[in-house]
Amino acid sequence: MLTIALPKGRIAEQTLEKFEKVFEEKFVFEDRKLILKKAGFTFLNVRNQDVPTYVMYGAADLGVVGLDVLEEKGYDLVKLLDLQIGQCRVAIGLKAGESIDWTRSEITVATKHEKIAKRFFEQKAMAVNIVKLYGSIELAPLVGLSDCIVDIVETGETMKQNGLEVGQTIMQSSVYLVSNKNAYYGKKEQILTLREKLATT
Ligand code: PRP
Repeated sequence: MLTIALPKGRIAEQTLEKFEKVFEEKFVFEDRKLILKKAGFTFLNVRNQDVPTYVMYGAADLGVVGLDVLEEKGYDLVKLLDLQIGQCRVAIGLKAGESIDWTRSEITVATKHEKIAKRFFEQKAMAVNIVKLYGSIELAPLVGLSDCIVDIVETGETMKQNGLEVGQTIMQSSVYLVSNKNAYYGKKEQILTLREKLATT
């Protein structure tokens, strides 16, 4: 029995669709249920940012999570497979027509991705004041909360519709199947069989 932590929402749906194709069975979380048991798997429906935590502490053997979230958490998990869904990038966003003044001593950045943003600016020898937000990041520069944002860009439409421009890309991301190290050693055959099925379907 493998336990797999899935992030709620679109990625959970797309991942369950993949499992449906592989196992030719319906995989759906009923109503408000957070646990789904099917075909020898237990799926946990958790928040995006919590997936690495469930896997790291061994509450789940496997997790499905964006590379950006994984990088942000910094946990030592085994990356098993790029599921080729949820492709996006983490990029700078600025008010249209503005650019970063690299001569300044400090910049204020609004983001969910604190570590990724901090590392990016510090590597460029720019001190950074992070304003941690949990969503609707694009608002911050519009109302003077920050100079710029570091956020997920998929189509670029959210930034565009809010008068922002997409700046430099910090990292590319997509959704990965990841494993807890102990689980990987202990259940290697089962995990690799699943990995293979997901890779070829
Ligand atoms: C994400 C991200 C952007 C948007 C990017 O937000 O934070 O706001 O998607 O997509 P686009 O480039 O295709 O417009 P999400 O929908 O996850 O909501 P959030 O703002 O609450 O994080």
